[in-house]
Amino acid sequence: MPGRVLSVASECVPLVKTGGLADVAGALPGALRGHGWDMRTLLPAYPDLIDKAKASAEIWSDPDLFGGPARVLMGQVGDAAILLLDAPHLYDRKGGPYGNPTDFPDNPQRFAALSWVAARIAVQGGSDGWVPDILHGHDWQAGFAPAYLRFTGQSRVKSVMTIHNIAFKGGASAAMLGELRLPYEAFNTDTLEFWGHLSSLKAGLATADAITTVSPTYAAELMRADFGMGLEGLIAHRAGDLHGILNGIDDAVWNPRTDPEVKPYSKANLAKKKPNRDALLAEFGLADVTGPLAIVVSRLTDQKGIDLIAATAAGFVADGGGLAILGAGEAHLEEALMDLVKAHPGKIGLRIGYDEALAHRMFAGGDAVLVPSRFEPCGLTQLYGLRYGCVPVVALTGGLADTVIDANPMAMQAGVATGLQFHPVDALALSQALRWLIDLHADAKGWTAMQKRGMSQALGWDTSAATYAELYESLTA
Ligand code: ADP
Ligand code: GLC
Repeated sequence: MPGRVLSVASECVPLVKTGGLADVAGALPGALRGHGWDMRTLLPAYPDLIDKAKASAEIWSDPDLFGGPARVLMGQVGDAAILLLDAPHLYDRKGGPYGNPTDFPDNPQRFAALSWVAARIAVQGGSDGWVPDILHGHDWQAGFAPAYLRFTGQSRVKSVMTIHNIAFKGGASAAMLGELRLPYEAFNTDTLEFWGHLSSLKAGLATADAITTVSPTYAAELMRADFGMGLEGLIAHRAGDLHGILNGIDDAVWNPRTDPEVKPYSKANLAKKKPNRDALLAEFGLADVTGPLAIVVSRLTDQKGIDLIAATAAGFVADGGGLAILGAGEAHLEEALMDLVKAHPGKIGLRIGYDEALAHRMFAGGDAVLVPSRFEPCGLTQLYGLRYGCVPVVALTGGLADTVIDANPMAMQAGVATGLQFHPVDALALSQALRWLIDLHADAKGWTAMQKRGMSQALGWDTSAATYAELYESLTA
């Protein structure tokens, strides 16, 4: 019997986004609605969000939430109900959801507060009478939510914790235990303690009724020391409650036939992708590209293997390739990419920053998208690439392993390849993949066939939403 879910996240499209978590949190309510589940999303009321979500009805309040007054206002985005936690002392400030360039020092309190309110609403319901059956937390920002719920001693509401990225553990000093309203007796290695500190992510993983992550391969990787980042033991211990469920993409937003940023095309008239390519070459000033135009749309971090792109780009452009990069992140990676542009004018172009519209134009104009991540829980850009006939070249890890069919000899013979995968994740293997990309692209007929296969893949939420629905149902049965 379907029911109600309170989803708790720190970002959610179209209101606030720094990465894929926002895409997923924003897509889940619509995806689950088709299976009868009524999902509301609880989000901090960062500046302007109350206006954007037209939130007015107050459904919860507290005169003292971790040092100041707080209330929850209900708003609407599209068909989805959004609950905004309005607590100006915690969220009404400039600098992005987590602080910028450095994290806000009170992030432990800010997101513990979000999790605390989630658990209150889960147990007591809002003043409008809406009470969830499931509390679903995303990443470390919501990690304490299942824990607060567990500590109430209730058993009616079940909890799910989703790992989008294990690298961020929500660390806090053990001295904050009391301030964060956590019970001293739970400060042990089975629950809250992680190397002498608190970890909200660990708290969630230890106390949630079920754990999910965003691809089957990442679920398996997380139980290994090289991917679990210290939590592999706990996750392996909970393997029976762990589910790897692939993310989907929002077909209404990512569709080259209807995308307002794109000169429309589809797999039936792929020739119409060319004007998008010409426009992108012009936009990045790339007059000197004879082979495939590769794009990168990414946070510029170690996780994403951006250093491997810097290490292999010279060879790729010498072979005729071109490179258009959009991203922002670590200064040393931004600098390495700026150096590349200087060394290869007309062949490599770069935009530092975050630009949603440009990202759409890049998938439409690019021939290939490079995703050389060292680890990638799911990854969305390879999925956008598949949808836009922009062939993914990806590291063989996590969700990248689960969503791309590598152009290996047998897959080529069977006519099923949709992209290229490389392993191990190093510059040598990436440069070999890029050489293979040049050859594949030179065979126009084979290339078009590969693009069309990618564009034919089912990448929406249908299958995964059904799997989440089954999980919710098994928990509430
Ligand atoms: P992650 O969440 O680890 O960053 P994902 O691939 O799951 O990785 O999601 C990244 C999302 O952020 C995608 O929607 C991608 O298009 C978007 N994105 C990343 N960097 C930029 C940028 N500089 N400009 C616009 N969109 C970006
Ligand atoms: C994280 C992961 C990414 C995943 C996204 C949404 O940011 O790094 O791989 O696609 O969450 O689940």
